[in-house]
Amino acid sequence: MLRAFTLAAPAKINLILEIQGRRPDGYHSLKTVMHTLALSDSLAFRPRPDGLKVTCSHPGVPMGEGNLVFRAARELARRLRREPRVHIHIRKKIPVAAGLGGGSSDAAAALRGLSRWWGRPDYPGLSGLARTLGSDVPFFLTGGCALGTGRGDHIHPWPEAVGLWILLVNPGFHLSTARVYKKTSLRLTRKKACINMMRQAVRDKNAIKIGQNLFNHLASVVEPEHPVVSRIRQDLLKGGALGAMLSGSGPTVFGLFHSRGQARNLQRQLADRYPVCLLTRTSGSVAR
Ligand code: C5P
Repeated sequence: MLRAFTLAAPAKINLILEIQGRRPDGYHSLKTVMHTLALSDSLAFRPRPDGLKVTCSHPGVPMGEGNLVFRAARELARRLRREPRVHIHIRKKIPVAAGLGGGSSDAAAALRGLSRWWGRPDYPGLSGLARTLGSDVPFFLTGGCALGTGRGDHIHPWPEAVGLWILLVNPGFHLSTARVYKKTSLRLTRKKACINMMRQAVRDKNAIKIGQNLFNHLASVVEPEHPVVSRIRQDLLKGGALGAMLSGSGPTVFGLFHSRGQARNLQRQLADRYPVCLLTRTSGSVAR
Protein backbone atom coordinates (compact mmCIF):
# COMPACT_ATOMS: atom_id res chain seq x y z
CA MET A 1 0.00 0.00 0.00
CA LEU A 2 1.34 3.45 -0.90
CA ARG A 3 1.96 5.81 1.98
CA ALA A 4 0.23 9.13 2.60
CA PHE A 5 2.24 12.29 1.94
CA THR A 6 1.83 16.07 1.72
CA LEU A 7 3.04 18.55 -0.91
CA ALA A 8 3.19 22.35 -0.86
CA ALA A 9 1.61 24.30 -3.72
CA PRO A 10 3.11 27.81 -3.79
CA ALA A 11 1.42 31.06 -4.84
CA LYS A 12 2.98 33.28 -7.54
CA ILE A 13 3.22 36.92 -8.45
CA ASN A 14 3.77 38.34 -11.92
CA LEU A 15 6.76 40.67 -11.98
CA ILE A 16 5.83 41.38 -15.60
CA LEU A 17 2.66 40.63 -17.56
CA GLU A 18 2.85 42.07 -21.05
CA ILE A 19 0.15 41.35 -23.63
CA GLN A 20 1.51 41.04 -27.13
CA GLY A 21 -1.71 40.43 -29.04
CA ARG A 22 -4.91 38.43 -29.34
CA ARG A 23 -4.67 34.90 -30.74
CA PRO A 24 -7.12 33.19 -33.09
CA ASP A 25 -8.08 30.77 -30.26
CA GLY A 26 -9.34 33.70 -28.14
CA TYR A 27 -6.40 33.68 -25.74
CA HIS A 28 -3.79 36.44 -25.55
CA SER A 29 -0.13 35.97 -26.37
CA LEU A 30 1.97 37.08 -23.44
CA LYS A 31 5.38 37.69 -22.10
CA THR A 32 5.13 37.20 -18.38
CA VAL A 33 7.73 36.85 -15.65
CA MET A 34 6.47 34.85 -12.67
CA HIS A 35 8.03 34.14 -9.29
CA THR A 36 6.75 31.65 -6.71
CA LEU A 37 6.21 32.65 -3.07
CA ALA A 38 6.63 30.92 0.27
CA LEU A 39 2.87 31.37 0.79
CA SER A 40 1.47 27.95 -0.18
CA ASP A 41 -1.58 25.72 -0.12
CA SER A 42 -0.90 22.17 0.96
CA LEU A 43 -2.17 18.98 -0.66
CA ALA A 44 -2.46 15.82 1.44
CA PHE A 45 -2.54 12.58 -0.56
CA ARG A 46 -3.76 9.33 0.95
CA PRO A 47 -4.85 5.97 -0.47
CA ARG A 48 -8.59 5.56 -0.99
CA PRO A 49 -9.77 2.15 -2.23
CA ASP A 50 -13.11 3.59 -3.44
CA GLY A 51 -11.48 5.83 -6.05
CA LEU A 52 -10.72 9.52 -6.58
CA LYS A 53 -11.96 12.09 -4.07
CA VAL A 54 -10.92 15.74 -3.79
CA THR A 55 -11.88 17.88 -0.80
CA CYS A 56 -10.90 21.41 0.19
CA SER A 57 -10.80 23.40 3.43
CA HIS A 58 -12.28 26.41 1.60
CA PRO A 59 -16.07 26.14 1.18
CA GLY A 60 -16.09 28.13 -2.09
CA VAL A 61 -13.84 25.68 -3.97
CA PRO A 62 -15.75 23.00 -5.94
CA MET A 63 -15.03 19.36 -5.04
CA GLY A 64 -15.64 17.30 -8.17
CA GLU A 65 -15.34 17.90 -11.91
CA GLY A 66 -15.16 21.69 -11.38
CA ASN A 67 -11.93 21.34 -9.41
CA LEU A 68 -8.68 21.51 -11.41
CA VAL A 69 -7.01 19.05 -9.01
CA PHE A 70 -9.75 16.51 -9.70
CA ARG A 71 -9.30 16.93 -13.47
CA ALA A 72 -5.49 16.77 -13.18
CA ALA A 73 -5.66 13.51 -11.19
CA ARG A 74 -8.25 11.86 -13.42
CA GLU A 75 -6.42 12.78 -16.64
CA LEU A 76 -2.98 11.73 -15.37
CA ALA A 77 -4.44 8.39 -14.20
CA ARG A 78 -5.96 7.85 -17.64
CA ARG A 79 -2.70 8.64 -19.43
CA LEU A 80 -0.59 6.46 -17.10
CA ARG A 81 -3.26 3.70 -17.06
CA ARG A 82 -3.67 3.79 -13.29
CA GLU A 83 -6.75 3.54 -11.08
CA PRO A 84 -6.90 6.90 -9.25
CA ARG A 85 -7.45 5.38 -5.79
CA VAL A 86 -6.54 8.50 -3.89
CA HIS A 87 -8.07 11.12 -1.63
CA ILE A 88 -6.50 14.56 -2.09
CA HIS A 89 -7.32 17.17 0.54
CA ILE A 90 -6.43 20.78 -0.29
CA ARG A 91 -5.69 23.06 2.66
CA LYS A 92 -6.16 26.58 1.26
CA LYS A 93 -3.96 29.41 2.41
CA ILE A 94 -3.69 31.25 -0.92
CA PRO A 95 -6.61 33.67 -1.47
CA VAL A 96 -8.99 32.29 -4.13
CA ALA A 97 -9.57 34.03 -7.53
CA ALA A 98 -7.02 36.64 -6.49
CA GLY A 99 -4.39 36.63 -9.26
CA LEU A 100 -2.00 34.48 -7.20
CA GLY A 101 -2.36 31.26 -9.20
CA GLY A 102 -3.66 29.13 -6.31
CA GLY A 103 -5.91 26.82 -8.36
CA SER A 104 -3.23 26.34 -11.05
CA SER A 105 -0.58 25.61 -8.43
CA ASP A 106 -2.81 23.05 -6.71
CA ALA A 107 -3.32 21.29 -10.07
CA ALA A 108 0.45 21.26 -10.75
CA ALA A 109 1.10 19.87 -7.24
CA ALA A 110 -1.41 17.09 -7.95
CA LEU A 111 0.50 16.25 -11.16
CA ARG A 112 3.86 16.31 -9.33
CA GLY A 113 2.58 14.22 -6.43
CA LEU A 114 0.69 11.63 -8.42
CA SER A 115 3.34 11.16 -11.11
CA ARG A 116 5.78 10.41 -8.28
CA TRP A 117 3.28 8.19 -6.47
CA TRP A 118 2.67 6.19 -9.62
CA GLY A 119 6.41 5.76 -10.25
CA ARG A 120 6.62 8.16 -13.21
CA PRO A 121 8.13 11.40 -11.80
CA ASP A 122 9.77 12.10 -15.16
CA TYR A 123 6.68 11.35 -17.26
CA PRO A 124 7.44 13.43 -20.38
CA GLY A 125 3.78 14.30 -21.02
CA LEU A 126 3.45 16.25 -17.77
CA SER A 127 3.95 19.75 -19.25
CA GLY A 128 1.59 19.01 -22.13
CA LEU A 129 -1.08 17.79 -19.72
CA ALA A 130 -0.48 20.79 -17.43
CA ARG A 131 -1.09 23.12 -20.39
CA THR A 132 -4.53 21.59 -21.08
CA LEU A 133 -5.55 22.41 -17.48
CA GLY A 134 -4.65 26.13 -17.60
CA SER A 135 -2.11 28.62 -18.92
CA ASP A 136 -0.31 28.99 -15.56
CA VAL A 137 -0.16 25.29 -14.67
CA PRO A 138 3.13 24.42 -16.51
CA PHE A 139 4.98 27.16 -14.60
CA PHE A 140 4.04 25.57 -11.28
CA LEU A 141 5.60 22.21 -12.24
CA THR A 142 8.95 23.83 -11.42
CA GLY A 143 8.18 27.27 -9.93
CA GLY A 144 11.03 29.59 -8.92
CA CYS A 145 11.37 32.39 -11.45
CA ALA A 146 10.58 31.96 -15.13
CA LEU A 147 9.58 33.79 -18.29
CA GLY A 148 6.35 32.47 -19.78
CA THR A 149 5.61 32.97 -23.49
CA GLY A 150 2.73 31.83 -25.72
CA ARG A 151 -0.35 31.84 -23.44
CA GLY A 152 2.15 32.07 -20.57
CA ASP A 153 2.43 28.28 -20.77
CA HIS A 154 5.83 27.97 -22.50
CA ILE A 155 8.29 28.20 -19.66
CA HIS A 156 11.87 29.51 -19.85
CA PRO A 157 13.51 29.20 -16.40
CA TRP A 158 15.33 32.25 -15.06
CA PRO A 159 17.72 32.63 -12.17
CA GLU A 160 15.73 33.17 -8.98
CA ALA A 161 15.60 36.08 -6.56
CA VAL A 162 14.78 34.04 -3.46
CA GLY A 163 14.08 35.74 -0.14
CA LEU A 164 12.67 39.13 -1.17
CA TRP A 165 9.96 40.35 1.18
CA ILE A 166 6.53 40.59 -0.42
CA LEU A 167 3.42 42.12 1.16
CA LEU A 168 0.19 40.92 -0.50
CA VAL A 169 -2.90 43.07 -0.08
CA ASN A 170 -6.28 41.90 -1.31
CA PRO A 171 -9.42 44.07 -1.21
CA GLY A 172 -11.65 41.08 -0.50
CA PHE A 173 -13.48 40.46 -3.76
CA HIS A 174 -12.91 37.99 -6.58
CA LEU A 175 -12.15 38.77 -10.22
CA SER A 176 -12.75 36.49 -13.21
CA THR A 177 -9.54 36.18 -15.24
CA ALA A 178 -11.51 35.59 -18.45
CA ARG A 179 -13.52 38.78 -17.93
CA VAL A 180 -10.44 40.92 -17.20
CA TYR A 181 -8.69 39.68 -20.36
CA LYS A 182 -11.83 40.25 -22.41
CA LYS A 183 -11.92 43.91 -21.40
CA THR A 184 -8.30 44.51 -22.37
CA SER A 185 -7.92 46.90 -25.25
CA LEU A 186 -4.88 46.30 -27.41
CA ARG A 187 -4.55 50.07 -27.70
CA LEU A 188 -3.37 49.93 -24.10
CA THR A 189 -0.43 47.82 -25.08
CA ARG A 190 1.69 50.65 -26.47
CA LYS A 191 3.63 50.89 -23.21
CA LYS A 192 6.37 48.27 -23.17
CA ALA A 193 7.80 46.12 -20.42
CA CYS A 194 11.55 45.88 -20.09
CA ILE A 195 12.14 42.13 -19.98
CA ASN A 196 15.94 42.41 -20.27
CA MET A 197 16.20 44.93 -17.43
CA MET A 198 14.06 42.65 -15.28
CA ARG A 199 16.21 39.62 -16.11
CA GLN A 200 19.34 41.49 -15.04
CA ALA A 201 17.66 42.82 -11.89
CA VAL A 202 16.48 39.32 -10.89
CA ARG A 203 19.90 37.83 -11.63
CA ASP A 204 21.52 40.51 -9.43
CA LYS A 205 18.77 40.13 -6.78
CA ASN A 206 18.52 43.91 -7.03
CA ALA A 207 15.21 44.63 -5.31
CA ILE A 208 15.28 48.33 -6.26
CA LYS A 209 15.62 47.56 -9.98
CA ILE A 210 13.05 44.76 -9.78
CA GLY A 211 10.68 47.27 -8.16
CA GLN A 212 11.32 49.84 -10.90
CA ASN A 213 10.59 47.36 -13.69
CA LEU A 214 7.32 45.84 -12.45
CA PHE A 215 4.72 45.89 -15.24
CA ASN A 216 1.19 44.57 -15.76
CA HIS A 217 -1.03 45.46 -18.71
CA LEU A 218 -4.08 44.11 -16.91
CA ALA A 219 -3.74 46.89 -14.31
CA SER A 220 -5.05 49.32 -16.95
CA VAL A 221 -8.33 47.35 -16.97
CA VAL A 222 -8.63 46.54 -13.28
CA GLU A 223 -7.55 49.86 -11.68
CA PRO A 224 -10.09 52.15 -13.41
CA GLU A 225 -12.90 49.68 -12.63
CA HIS A 226 -11.84 49.16 -9.02
CA PRO A 227 -10.27 52.34 -7.59
CA VAL A 228 -9.50 50.45 -4.35
CA VAL A 229 -6.83 48.52 -6.28
CA SER A 230 -4.97 51.68 -7.22
CA ARG A 231 -5.41 52.97 -3.63
CA ILE A 232 -3.73 49.82 -2.32
CA ARG A 233 -0.87 50.29 -4.78
CA GLN A 234 -0.43 53.91 -3.61
CA ASP A 235 -0.59 52.86 0.05
CA LEU A 236 2.13 50.28 -0.51
CA LEU A 237 4.36 52.83 -2.25
CA LYS A 238 3.75 55.48 0.42
CA GLY A 239 4.59 52.85 3.04
CA GLY A 240 8.04 52.36 1.51
CA ALA A 241 7.58 49.55 -1.03
CA LEU A 242 10.34 49.49 -3.67
CA GLY A 243 7.61 48.77 -6.20
CA ALA A 244 3.96 47.69 -6.13
CA MET A 245 1.86 46.06 -8.82
CA LEU A 246 -1.32 44.12 -9.53
CA SER A 247 -0.60 40.37 -9.68
CA GLY A 248 -2.05 38.52 -12.68
CA SER A 249 -5.65 39.54 -13.27
CA GLY A 250 -5.93 40.67 -9.63
CA PRO A 251 -7.33 41.96 -7.47
CA THR A 252 -4.31 41.22 -5.20
CA VAL A 253 -1.61 43.89 -5.24
CA PHE A 254 1.91 43.06 -4.05
CA GLY A 255 4.55 45.34 -2.64
CA LEU A 256 8.25 44.57 -2.67
CA PHE A 257 10.42 45.42 0.40
CA HIS A 258 14.06 45.43 1.43
CA SER A 259 13.43 44.66 5.04
CA ARG A 260 11.02 42.43 6.89
CA GLY A 261 10.59 45.07 9.61
CA GLN A 262 9.34 47.73 7.21
CA ALA A 263 6.95 45.31 5.49
CA ARG A 264 5.69 44.05 8.87
CA ASN A 265 4.95 47.59 10.11
CA LEU A 266 3.01 48.41 6.99
CA GLN A 267 1.16 45.09 7.21
CA ARG A 268 -0.07 46.08 10.70
CA GLN A 269 -1.27 49.47 9.43
CA LEU A 270 -2.97 48.17 6.30
CA ALA A 271 -4.64 45.25 8.12
CA ASP A 272 -7.11 47.79 9.58
CA ARG A 273 -8.07 48.99 6.11
CA TYR A 274 -8.03 45.88 3.92
CA PRO A 275 -9.39 42.39 4.61
CA VAL A 276 -6.32 40.40 3.53
CA CYS A 277 -2.70 41.46 4.19
CA LEU A 278 -0.16 38.63 4.01
CA LEU A 279 3.59 38.90 4.44
CA THR A 280 5.67 36.35 2.55
CA ARG A 281 8.91 35.93 0.56
CA THR A 282 9.89 34.87 -2.93
CA SER A 283 10.73 31.15 -3.04
CA GLY A 284 12.89 28.85 -5.15
CA SER A 285 11.89 26.11 -7.58
CA VAL A 286 10.05 23.07 -6.25
CA ALA A 287 11.37 19.50 -6.24
CA ARG A 288 9.57 17.09 -8.59
O1 C5P B 1 -5.70 29.36 -19.12
P1 C5P B 1 -6.67 29.75 -18.08
O2 C5P B 1 -7.85 28.80 -18.01
O3 C5P B 1 -6.08 29.94 -16.72
O4 C5P B 1 -7.23 31.16 -18.51
C1 C5P B 1 -8.42 31.71 -17.97
C2 C5P B 1 -8.97 32.71 -18.96
O5 C5P B 1 -8.10 33.83 -19.07
C3 C5P B 1 -9.09 32.16 -20.38
O6 C5P B 1 -10.33 31.57 -20.57
C4 C5P B 1 -8.92 33.40 -21.22
O7 C5P B 1 -10.14 34.08 -21.33
C5 C5P B 1 -7.99 34.29 -20.41
N1 C5P B 1 -6.59 34.20 -20.87
C6 C5P B 1 -6.22 34.84 -22.03
N2 C5P B 1 -4.91 34.75 -22.46
C7 C5P B 1 -3.99 34.08 -21.73
C8 C5P B 1 -4.36 33.44 -20.53
C9 C5P B 1 -5.67 33.52 -20.13
O8 C5P B 1 -7.03 35.46 -22.71
N3 C5P B 1 -2.73 34.04 -22.17
